[in-house]
Amino acid sequence: MTGYDRSSEHDLSSHEVAGHIPVLLQESIEALNIRPDGTYVDLTLGRGGHSEAIAEKLDGGRLFCFDKDEEAIEAAADRLARFGDKITFIKSDFREISKQLEQREVHQVDGILMDLGVSSPQLDNVERGFSYTGEAPLDMRMDRQSVMTASDIVNNWDYEDIKKILYEYGEERYAPRIASRIVANRPIRTTTELTEIIKEAMPAKALREKQHPAKRTFQAIRIAVNDELKALEEALEAGERILAPGGRLAVITFHSLEDKIVKRFISSKVKSCECPPDFPVCVCGKKPTLKHVSRKPILPTEGEITANPRSRSAKLRVAEKIGLGG
Ligand SMILES: C[S@@+](CC[C@H](N)C(=O)[O-])C[C@H]1O[C@@H](n2cnc3c(N)ncnc32)[C@H](O)[C@@H]1O
Repeated sequence: MTGYDRSSEHDLSSHEVAGHIPVLLQESIEALNIRPDGTYVDLTLGRGGHSEAIAEKLDGGRLFCFDKDEEAIEAAADRLARFGDKITFIKSDFREISKQLEQREVHQVDGILMDLGVSSPQLDNVERGFSYTGEAPLDMRMDRQSVMTASDIVNNWDYEDIKKILYEYGEERYAPRIASRIVANRPIRTTTELTEIIKEAMPAKALREKQHPAKRTFQAIRIAVNDELKALEEALEAGERILAPGGRLAVITFHSLEDKIVKRFISSKVKSCECPPDFPVCVCGKKPTLKHVSRKPILPTEGEITANPRSRSAKLRVAEKIGLGG
């Protein structure tokens, strides 16, 4: 990807949908190295900005789009209707990639894209409960048919479990204070009530920081509600297995927990022998299955960050499946 030519960033601006601009669009499409007759998977359809750009490059090829949010599927299916049966929409958790594709007799694909996290419509639709800036029930489910909501965590989990997710998924240093305030103030019904409780739990100096005081707690609860990190690990494993030789895996992450998982996953598949260094000969026989397309993550340009501040923390990592014989 080091050879990416930013002078060709002219033709993808049309993929902006009502102010929702797909992140690292040109870079991720380039990363997929799309063959017009190939088979591609967008595991995070959202508003369909990336899917649209992929579909436009296909001639004889197919695109399978996953999202576990029914509303995302409906809105994007409408928007991308002009592509007809070139695109198949699949309402499913992306950890089910193998099962869902096998059911459709697809056993190998030429590229997989993931653009993780919540979508702009999910954040902007206050009633979904993802945002700490509007009054809504504590929901945060990407899949509204799933059972657990943010309210279950906030109102039913015990102190230790809440503290643990705040530390692990929010990297929130005030996790113990926030967790104990939450437990002491139950029942908590809305996002605004939760935000107030978080603010009360924090020391004054933390409230003066640039970042919103509730950001980390909301991130932690959202990750737990949607089981985001385990789903990512499972989808990476399953996705890599069905990539055809030369097929590309392109993943856009938005925080360090996701990026660490993707980085570690790619490194583990790029490595060959994992025997201890003092072994005279390899006994594990491990062969690499992926190679780096770019060793370093690809980041948004200053121009993209200015046009779309939500892209600020995005990182794109790209790897290629190694063909038979390496
Ligand atoms: C950042 S948005 C994708 C935006 C999209 N690339 C676009 O151009 O509009 C992420 C989407 O992935 C979906 N998603 C997140 N985790 C998922 C999972 N485990 N399975 C299926 N969909 C998931 C969310 O519901 C959301 O719609």
